[in-house]
Amino acid sequence: ASGAQAAAHEHPPVVVGHRGAAAYAPENTLASVDAAHRLGITWVENDVQRTKDGQLVVLHDTSLARTTNVKKVFPDRSPWNVGDFTLREIEKLDAGSWYDAKFKGERVPTLEDYLDEVEHNGQRLLMELKNPELYPGIERQALRELRHDGWLNGAHVKSRLIVQSFNADAIKKVHRLEPAIKTGFLGNPSVTDLPKYAAYCDQINPPHTAVTRAYVDAVHALRGPHHRRLELYTWTVDDAKAAVGSAGLGVDGVISNKPDVVREALADG
Ligand code: G3P
Ligand code: CA
Repeated sequence: ASGAQAAAHEHPPVVVGHRGAAAYAPENTLASVDAAHRLGITWVENDVQRTKDGQLVVLHDTSLARTTNVKKVFPDRSPWNVGDFTLREIEKLDAGSWYDAKFKGERVPTLEDYLDEVEHNGQRLLMELKNPELYPGIERQALRELRHDGWLNGAHVKSRLIVQSFNADAIKKVHRLEPAIKTGFLGNPSVTDLPKYAAYCDQINPPHTAVTRAYVDAVHALRGPHHRRLELYTWTVDDAKAAVGSAGLGVDGVISNKPDVVREALADG
């Protein structure tokens, strides 16, 4: 069968809201989780980093400068790295106004508050460990928080949580520490290298522009650590053309700032 014919027999990809629903609310805030929820989007993606005093928070950039008013509140603390600020300091920051005045008062969420919101909404979480090399031990710590909040219990860990990273060592560690967790590697390793990743990753998640049908087939030909077919989610898929393109290649998921647009496109396609 041609790629398009083969794809027609496969499940449509899961749609994951990128940083919540980052096209509609300030990324990685509780407002963004809720925006995705209101659109009926079950899966959300986030980015986890650590404060100076060892608290896990949800933020994409290493620096607080782009997505908060940190420059105004702490003008002398350039380059405003999250790892140089205590949680108390970070709690003073506005993480919404940079995006739109109507989001004034949004905070950089702690991972714990973020997990509670996702849970409260009945959503599911694709959690990225961002730059884990900057935060020794963050894998174990993140797992401790997930366990504390019930995310490693049978049903949750099986169907509601994926932990991903660009850092293969971090994912290896997560798999070793908590083998039940579903894991993803962000990037596009060569086809020859894929079997190495399949030893500890359930997913390979490349940029959508880097994926071909042959690559998707090579991923699908392998089984992951849970003996299921290796999956592939693409990012960041923000328009109908990219969504239909990824779906036509047979991908298992698409990660999108505009998950509603992508869902519509896939329903029409
Ligand atoms: O989930 C995929 C995507 O988030 C990876 O890139 O830079 O947005 O974290 P980035
Ligand atoms: Ca991310």
